[in-house]
Amino acid sequence: MERWRTIIEPFRIHSVEPIRITTREERVRALEAAGWNLFGIHADDVLIDLLTDSGTGAMSRDQWAAIQHGDESYAGSPSWYRFLDAVQELFPFHHVIPTHQGRAAERILFSVIGGTGKVIPNNTHFDTTRANVEFSGAEALDLVIAEGHEPATVHPFKGNMDVDALEHLLAERADDVPVVFVTVTNNSGGGQPVSLRNLKAVRAVCDRFGKPLFLDACRFAENAWFIKTREEGQADRPIPDIVREMASLADGMTMSAKKDGLANIGGWLAMNDDALAERCRTLEILTEGFPTYGGLAGRDLEAIAQGLREVVDEDYLHYRIVSTAYLGSALDAAGVPVVKPFGGHAVYLDARALLPHIPPLDYPGQALAIALYVEGGIRGCEIGTVMFGRHPDGSESPAAMDLVRLAIPRRTYTQSHVDYVIEVVAAVAEQAADLRGFRIVAEPSQLRHFTARFEPLT
Ligand SMILES: Cc1ncc(COP(=O)(O)O)c(C=O)c1O
Repeated sequence: MERWRTIIEPFRIHSVEPIRITTREERVRALEAAGWNLFGIHADDVLIDLLTDSGTGAMSRDQWAAIQHGDESYAGSPSWYRFLDAVQELFPFHHVIPTHQGRAAERILFSVIGGTGKVIPNNTHFDTTRANVEFSGAEALDLVIAEGHEPATVHPFKGNMDVDALEHLLAERADDVPVVFVTVTNNSGGGQPVSLRNLKAVRAVCDRFGKPLFLDACRFAENAWFIKTREEGQADRPIPDIVREMASLADGMTMSAKKDGLANIGGWLAMNDDALAERCRTLEILTEGFPTYGGLAGRDLEAIAQGLREVVDEDYLHYRIVSTAYLGSALDAAGVPVVKPFGGHAVYLDARALLPHIPPLDYPGQALAIALYVEGGIRGCEIGTVMFGRHPDGSESPAAMDLVRLAIPRRTYTQSHVDYVIEVVAAVAEQAADLRGFRIVAEPSQLRHFTARFEPLT
């Protein structure tokens, strides 16, 4: 294999979904109707959908076959036990609490341990994590290393937690910190990995202050691949071993199976603490369902169990990471500013650098995301001041970065789709000086990026 430079998709296509070609005029009309919010667009009007890698991947033949084994017993379904075995094979926590997706796990956990006066550190909180922390009344604090805020700086583990900053926080406010979180990979910080060495250092600080460490483990397999390929002494280890070591450094986790579960829905919350698990299970019954299905059908549990076996396959992970880098390298070569090194699940365009004439509060990320859709029918996602600029006290300030994330659904698009994306992004970047910002004309009090309505500035 190593003789050949071309990385092929390690699968053949088994069933296909049509995608519809639209005209530029149709796309502008669709945007006007959607208040210039890409979340409001009918997916049939999208040519290449890179809005998210969450739940949008293609399931395998074996996952579809597993679905036929779904047992829909309310309590104690065999599908639950297959799910539990697959989860604990990689994450041997004592308690596994299934949920319909990641944010449900977050909501349960932070309802129990969050609350006013508390502060929850993370390398970078994902939007739903931050919102669930804040909804509980607690403060969500991002403590990623300085390089994590510098789009152009190359660092092998840019998702690492700033251990000194964590230590400082705990020295000052240990009583207010119910849990320390680390997100692998660091989605909001550019899909950047966290090293084992950093996790061990965070663990040591947590131990010193008697604090539990939880992983937001949505992209655990991609993180493990980066550890294998970038961290000293890890190259010969099987991926599942690396994953188990990551788990062994933590006391629990939240998970969205829509990412590295290779499933279209699902998630879980896991932990070792019996008393905490009991409180979480009580809440789960209230909102998700009985603890052996937790908001999921038996068939979903089966699809996840099989997905967890497939996602740690090295051929898959090699293809996944190299094909994401293929997009990133081509854009970099075309002079488009991108976050480097390239993340596992996405390439992040640095809209602030590309559009210096659009101030952050005129939302350069939104301007770029809209231009990609107008010109080429490509749907990306603003990760910047629209997503993170509004604060719980109602004030607004620029986010740390203004990025557009091109997230790659797993096993879904081929290299020619990606070549098309490269061509469109490069063409839009050439006309960057002509792009204009946006203003928000309506927004909800939280998570505004999903439903806000915009108007283009002239
Ligand atoms: C890092 C991270 N945490 C949590 C979530 C929330 O998961 P879900 O969308 O399944 O609720 C996501 C989803 O994109 C994520 O990327």
